[in-house]
Amino acid sequence: MCMPKPTKNSRFSVSLAVATIIITLSLTSVARAAVKDADIDGLTDDGEISIYHTDPANADTDGDGISDGQEVTDGTDPLSADVRTVSASDFSDPGISGQPEKYPWYFGRAAGVAAFGLLTLSVVFGLIISSRAFTRLIPGVDAYELHRSISLAGLVAVVLHFVSLMFDGFLRLTPVEALVPFLFSREGLVSSAGFDVRIPVALGVIAFYLVVALILTAEFRSKLPARSWRIVHYASFAAYPLFVLHGFMSGTDSVHGWARVMYAGSVALVATLVVVRIISRTILFLRRRAASKGIPPVA
Ligand code: HEM
Repeated sequence: MCMPKPTKNSRFSVSLAVATIIITLSLTSVARAAVKDADIDGLTDDGEISIYHTDPANADTDGDGISDGQEVTDGTDPLSADVRTVSASDFSDPGISGQPEKYPWYFGRAAGVAAFGLLTLSVVFGLIISSRAFTRLIPGVDAYELHRSISLAGLVAVVLHFVSLMFDGFLRLTPVEALVPFLFSREGLVSSAGFDVRIPVALGVIAFYLVVALILTAEFRSKLPARSWRIVHYASFAAYPLFVLHGFMSGTDSVHGWARVMYAGSVALVATLVVVRIISRTILFLRRRAASKGIPPVA
């Protein structure tokens, strides 16, 4: 495949602007989700789902007449009507407000969502380039520049994502757990979507390495044999489902409608472009074959 050469610096500014908008939107939506307290019991919905396992729509989950927030403050169990019972949950954390030690967790999640958006866009532009079906809409050079710089921005967001989670006192993610697949495991830690976090987090770590390999081989493409570059680049098809499964299965936000729309929208967009790519490459192939046999092309 003949890829157009990257040229103008101005295209980098355009892609930076796109990346900034996505990161800002992601941070805003996560921040909004983070401070939401639907049942007004003093605990954020996120805290109720992921930390206390109480009902975010019911101010008094165990029905003992004391609100969940009050029980957390008192050190009693909001999941048991027996007010003398002390919960096994991490009660040192009653939510985001006044809890600066929780900021790394929120920032890490926001960066994860931003990384997801950026890497989805990168896959989208990759498919736009290789399908060659949209050259009138967006010139190949522009699509290539966007693809390249958005991938880099995505990689930066992934690094911010897991480095930030290392500073969260609840997850206590270690560098070794973040970099070696299948080492992260927490007894009884189930994600908001109901999955044991071990496998989905491992998928995220593998996806990270695939993204690193893709970006490195793209940067040093001219020094690599075309075949090696192509083989590694096809790894993007594996990285994509891995980070989709990772985000959905391990993320706290997967219970929220906006997050589900984000995951479903990404999959629908990428699946559509894969189909467009297959069709347009098949048409291209048939045209070339017809031309080589001297058959006039079908309009
Ligand atoms: C391509 C790479 C990656 C992408 C696109 C990605 C993206 C995401 C997304 C979208 C979420 C859901 C956030 C939420 O619902 O609030 C998430 C969660 C998570 N990710 Fe990643 N991630 C990647 C790699 C990694 C790596 C290398 C680690 C290191 C262990 C990691 C650890 C985690 C953890 C622990 C969570 C759960 C956080 C929580 O909601 O409590 N991720 N990731």
